[in-house]
Amino acid sequence: MLTKLKNGVIVVTQLDQSLQERALTRIEQLIKEEANANNMLPLARSEIQLAFDKNRAVTAFSGKKPIGYVYLHLWQHYIEISGIVVHPNFRQQGLGLILIKTALSLAKRSFDLPIIILPNKVSGKIAKQLGFTHKDKTFFHPEIWSTCPTCKDYQNFPNCRCSCMVYET
Ligand SMILES: CC(C)(COP(=O)(O)OP(=O)(O)OC[C@H]1O[C@@H](n2cnc3c(N)ncnc32)[C@H](O)[C@@H]1OP(=O)(O)O)[C@@H](O)C(=O)NCCC(=O)NCCS
Repeated sequence: MLTKLKNGVIVVTQLDQSLQERALTRIEQLIKEEANANNMLPLARSEIQLAFDKNRAVTAFSGKKPIGYVYLHLWQHYIEISGIVVHPNFRQQGLGLILIKTALSLAKRSFDLPIIILPNKVSGKIAKQLGFTHKDKTFFHPEIWSTCPTCKDYQNFPNCRCSCMVYET
């Protein structure tokens, strides 16, 4: 799937090998910077690669430059929209919304599982617009907290940066 935005940005769900190579390094770096700033969880390069391999990634490009990313994390009980990031120069222009919306369509098409997102304040605002509602952390199977120890905000768990939302069909 390919969506062209007015500003020349394209959002794609399938990448050829050369675009994957380009995206892998850039997206890894973007996520690292945001994780260091305590805005999101770090994501291993192998996880980013796996999402490309399994067609579970949505990537935005400006020309050939990767500028945004989100992927679907497959848990035993859920499919999670995760790893949302937009390059600082392209924020507040609606790209985050389009990335999450595209990931939501992909999740609905590809999986018969509840769709969840563990957002911070900004991504939570986007998720709410798309039909996600907040639930208490105790509502979810604990498998989804298994990556939390890698987060800079883990010391504050469960009253930490992320909340929990589920897509209401
Ligand atoms: C979260 C993120 C992906 C949003 O991307 P974006 O392209 O700026 O999002 P959008 O332009 O689609 O904005 C969607 C809504 O959020 C609002 N918003 C965006 N950034 C905001 C900010 N810093 N503070 C408050 N609201 C903000 C927009 O105004 C818009 O609301 P509206 O529809 O009422 O106008 C981006 O800020 C980012 O990459 N942040 C760093 C990584 C991160 O925090 N990831 C989430 C991990 S849980």
